[in-house]
Amino acid sequence: MPAIAVIGAQWGDEGKGRVVDLLAEKAHMVVRFSGGNNAGHTVINQHGEFRLHLVPAGIFRPQATCIIGNGVVIDPAVLFEEIEELQKSGVDTQRLFISDRAHLIMPYHILLDGLEEDSKGSKAIGTTRRGVGPAFVDKIARLGIRTGDLLDKEAFRQRLAFVLERKNAILTKIYGIQPLSLKEIHESYCNYGERMAPYIQQTEFLVREALEVDKLVLLEGAQGSLLDPDFGTYPYVTSSSPLAGGACLGLGITPMQIRHIIGVFKAYTTRVGSGPMPTEMDKETAHVIREKAREYGATTGRPRRCGWFDSTVGRLSVLVNGFTSVALTRMDVLDILPSIKVCTSYRLEGKTLQQPPSNSSTLGKCEPLYEELPGWQSPTGHIRRFRDLPLEARRYVRKIEELLGCQVDLITVGPKRNEMISVRSFL
Ligand code: IMP
Repeated sequence: MPAIAVIGAQWGDEGKGRVVDLLAEKAHMVVRFSGGNNAGHTVINQHGEFRLHLVPAGIFRPQATCIIGNGVVIDPAVLFEEIEELQKSGVDTQRLFISDRAHLIMPYHILLDGLEEDSKGSKAIGTTRRGVGPAFVDKIARLGIRTGDLLDKEAFRQRLAFVLERKNAILTKIYGIQPLSLKEIHESYCNYGERMAPYIQQTEFLVREALEVDKLVLLEGAQGSLLDPDFGTYPYVTSSSPLAGGACLGLGITPMQIRHIIGVFKAYTTRVGSGPMPTEMDKETAHVIREKAREYGATTGRPRRCGWFDSTVGRLSVLVNGFTSVALTRMDVLDILPSIKVCTSYRLEGKTLQQPPSNSSTLGKCEPLYEELPGWQSPTGHIRRFRDLPLEARRYVRKIEELLGCQVDLITVGPKRNEMISVRSFL
């Protein structure tokens, strides 16, 4: 069995962790390939409720090896906090491996994320301020420091001295704040390095070995396709690719090794941070949804903006990922609504658009065209078979399939593992 990718199809927070947790039951390996601790995957199971930011959601399945790939940026403080929390809850973390090529989030990245955002005023991106963007900037600027670098303390000190000189110049000359201490960062990161050493591996070989003997490898996406630096709502995007293609680069696998690509869509839309969102609901409806579904960021606690399902951006997501199936999450949240809108296309300057424009300011001017469907106004949380869903709910699912041109294979109707409807098996 080759790799199966689980990809966020909207602006993140679609419930990928939930889908991965489910599929991980049969997986030999679960791997993260992009992002950092800007992600927050909520998983509820027999061990409790967890918000995972770095460790793959497969960690709860005892047979699954979990990998943080080279495409992820790692804040070691967050990593060890998470590992300790898992260990306290009795979860075995010895099956976790970290790529020696993964870049580190350093203290200056976190500082700069905040300073840059503050300096942008009303044009701020609304980042998670976890240092993720600045760490990816340094990766591309060839100023990054990788987990493997921590294993040679003296070489690491020299590299850090070189990089920190540049960072301190920015902190002092542009932002007028105190420089950071080389000694302090070196000491704390050497300490992290010692703790991280047992986890560090050339993970591309581990993934290849698993794929060569036909083991199921689950590729756990982070963020959502509309936050992709190329195809998302630039500049209101994240800084690594959440797309299926990102998995190849973020792990060192080939496109041919990915057999299924599951696009995870929430049954409506949410977004945190700034940027256009054409189907944003009126405040009152958004409030109802937000409170019912606890739509608050798993990483920052920020209230999520809520909107109707938008098939226009959804089709772009299908196009750039090549989804072979769709998982539709949080369907039960819509149980209370008397009617539900679905955006079918946009209107811009008298023209109807089937695909979103690439420019964020133009996208902001698009008027969503809706089809309004009757709600079902009855609970669905207990339903386990598609045919037992109310007729209106089935019609809603069929409408989404028709608009996306992709089959819905899984529907979740509650946060617990069993609260779902398997329409067709992915595996
Ligand atoms: P950054 O990734 O922290 O630089 O933030 C850039 C944009 O991506 C902001 O709008 C964030 O709110 C958004 N973002 C980053 N990670 C997530 C996520 O896991 N879920 C939802 N939005 C995210």
